[in-house]
Amino acid sequence: MKQIIVLISILIAVSWATSRPIQEEFRQCMSTQFKAYTRSFEIIFPRNSSLYSSLLQSTIQNPRWLNATTFKPLLIVTPFHESEVQAAILCSRKYDLQIRVRSGGHDYEGLSFLCRTPFIIIDLINMRSIEVDIKEETAWIQSGATLGELYYTIAKKSLVHGFPAGLCPTVGIGGHLSGGGFGTLVRKFGVAADNVVDAYLIDVNGRLVDRKAMGEELFWAIRGGGGGNFGVILSWKIKLVRVPKSVTVFTVPRTVEQSASELIHRWQYIAPEMHEDLFIRIVILGVGEKSSKGKRIDNVSFNSLFLGGIDSLIPLMNKNFPELGLKAEDCTEMTWVESTIYFAGFPKGSPLEVLLDKEQLYKSKFKAKSDFVTEPIPKNAIEGIWKMFQEEEEIAIMIMDPFGGKMNEILEFEVPFPHRKGNLYNIQYMVKWDEDGLETSSRHVNWIRSLYNYMTPFVSKFPRAAYVNYRDLDLGTNKNGKTATYREAAAWGDKYFKDNFKRLARVKNKVDPENFFRNEQSIPLLPEPWK
Ligand code: FDA
Repeated sequence: MKQIIVLISILIAVSWATSRPIQEEFRQCMSTQFKAYTRSFEIIFPRNSSLYSSLLQSTIQNPRWLNATTFKPLLIVTPFHESEVQAAILCSRKYDLQIRVRSGGHDYEGLSFLCRTPFIIIDLINMRSIEVDIKEETAWIQSGATLGELYYTIAKKSLVHGFPAGLCPTVGIGGHLSGGGFGTLVRKFGVAADNVVDAYLIDVNGRLVDRKAMGEELFWAIRGGGGGNFGVILSWKIKLVRVPKSVTVFTVPRTVEQSASELIHRWQYIAPEMHEDLFIRIVILGVGEKSSKGKRIDNVSFNSLFLGGIDSLIPLMNKNFPELGLKAEDCTEMTWVESTIYFAGFPKGSPLEVLLDKEQLYKSKFKAKSDFVTEPIPKNAIEGIWKMFQEEEEIAIMIMDPFGGKMNEILEFEVPFPHRKGNLYNIQYMVKWDEDGLETSSRHVNWIRSLYNYMTPFVSKFPRAAYVNYRDLDLGTNKNGKTATYREAAAWGDKYFKDNFKRLARVKNKVDPENFFRNEQSIPLLPEPWK
């Protein structure tokens, strides 16, 4: 034992001693060899910088990964200019370091800031400009901007334009658009990636390319093929969508005693079939005795956005979903941008500026998993979910987002996000807790795994599909920084991308043949006979 401790101490000392020169050489390489834009202020933060820790932790959404000390970057680069990103890529290759690109830092498994081999982070926190062109109905957004900043900037120019992306305002554009990205407008306009029309990317050779220069195959791959696979995407040109001046929102809560199971069961037949202007999602919440609330709560919320007024919504609901008993007084009319504040969970009357808040609203330790449902789940199976929820002592959540509408019209292969016609809804399972410790965390993770097992007979099969933006390393991983073979990577690739997986691997072969951009669940190279 003593010898092991001595050996570990020597290894730590050696790695510390050798890591310093690499950091200095890296800085030198950045500023001279590749003629990076040199600044009078710092953009390279090594481990001994006083700002290193706060910068590293600044956008981490899942503090479960905060103590993963062994996987910290050698340095963090915070570029302002494309030449600094180019230099960071080329210098990382020169010194055989891996790169993790971070935009909003919301990756569920921490893949934008953790790595098991020596690495640097390129943190796009300073690349967050947004230029909205209302006449052309488009916007250019840098990857480091957040969804909240995008919604705010659009609203400052127009209250009748919006963008179909996620609900949480602190999510980064870079990761979100790379994996698909959906929210309350998904039934009307598809996922965020469906609405991307151009992009700037820096490839493995440090070349800056737009859509024309990168070619249609790579442009296809970056719109939903998952972040961190093909290069660093600096900015995206998106198509804005038109929204009415006034929209309607409601949240109707129901308990088990108020027929929650029957309503969920009925919802499955209605929500994906309703008019595409109406999005009704379900949030099932179970709060256990050990949570900060301290008492058991189990309820279901029917949480909705309607692209129209209350007068049109009520007859539509009475005709299609009378069982919910929606009344005009449950509903509120507001602008579309105000609805983004509502869905983000800010209090009523909050100013638009809350969308610019960097403070993460939902920061807590969590583990999540996802499914897609293709056949309505039987009522007795829904009742079983309540029993499962009783077993979790902290906070358990299931969010069910209906598809249908525009999602049925977009073909599975138009962009790599493949979950289209035939999917009634997506489920996100989540468990959250506050307490520290490995034992606590395994208890909660084991619970969510058992819920996932319970759901097996009721969700999509061959493959059991999953959403790459709800990253789940339980599906499989590259081991110890080594890349999985194509066959091994199919464990997650088939689930995230279905028939698009092979095409993504073919693009990978072409644009990153040495597999420089990789992570625990990256797109592998295609084996020789299939190229
Ligand atoms: P982060 O910076 O962690 O990056 C995620 C991945 O993309 C990493 O692999 C990273 O290396 C890579 N990457 C990041 N920037 C890149 C770039 N510029 N170029 C290349 N690769 C890049 N999703 C959804 O569809 N709808 C929703 O409503 C929500 N809501 C939501 C709420 C909360 C609280 C969380 C934590 C997450 C969500 N999500 C979501 C999931 C979210 O879409 C997903 O986690 C995104 O990947 C986050 O993007 P970030 O840029 O923030 O992550």
